[in-house]
Amino acid sequence: MTQDELKKQVAQAALQYIDGETIIGVGTGSTVNFFIDMLADYKGKIKAAASSSDATTERLKGVGIPVIELNSVDEIGVYVDGADEVDTNKKLIKGGGGALTREKIIAAASKKFVCIVDSTKSVDVLGAFPLPVEVIPMSRNYVANELEKLGGRPVWRKDYYTDNGCEILDVHGLKIVDPVKLETIINGITGVVTNGLFAARDADVVLVGNGDKVDTIK
Ligand code: 5RP
Repeated sequence: MTQDELKKQVAQAALQYIDGETIIGVGTGSTVNFFIDMLADYKGKIKAAASSSDATTERLKGVGIPVIELNSVDEIGVYVDGADEVDTNKKLIKGGGGALTREKIIAAASKKFVCIVDSTKSVDVLGAFPLPVEVIPMSRNYVANELEKLGGRPVWRKDYYTDNGCEILDVHGLKIVDPVKLETIINGITGVVTNGLFAARDADVVLVGNGDKVDTIK
């Protein structure tokens, strides 16, 4: 199977988790895009979705799923999103697509977070994928220096702005043995909006598309 076929396979597997849900949360990225396209069959059953990016909002509207403000609901039943890396403890690196902050907010507000990945995203130790850190633009240089003190090699994602009008530093060279600790430390640097470690609030279920089958990590 191609990587796109694996993404489609795992997106299909996520549909079982939205049965009976009326309000869902939807992440961002090419894997989730397959899931969104499949939501066309759920028009009327899914009343609305909370969206993690402008791109996802457009795509949801395109298949006829209304988008709601997260502020208008107290809780989301299920949040479906992809990831850039997943370890065996369901800790994630996200933000390759730049939507990490809104994704983290919806994950926090959701009862269940279902993460969908193809098998190329599974790792033993997080960090081979550069860790995205969203920063307030004027703090970029200061934050980069602080990230270097933590042993990382931050690279500015030049000419890129998030939906929140912020910038991203992609941190290379980290071997992340304690993701919860590193997530907390980086989020404590002044100027950081959030970082792409989803460890304190990790996934509840990870679905991994392998081709032969979809593995479920709970
Ligand atoms: C976007 C994300 C995506 O979930 C992550 O980058 C995976 O994307 P894709 O499904 O395209 O591989 O965190 O901010």
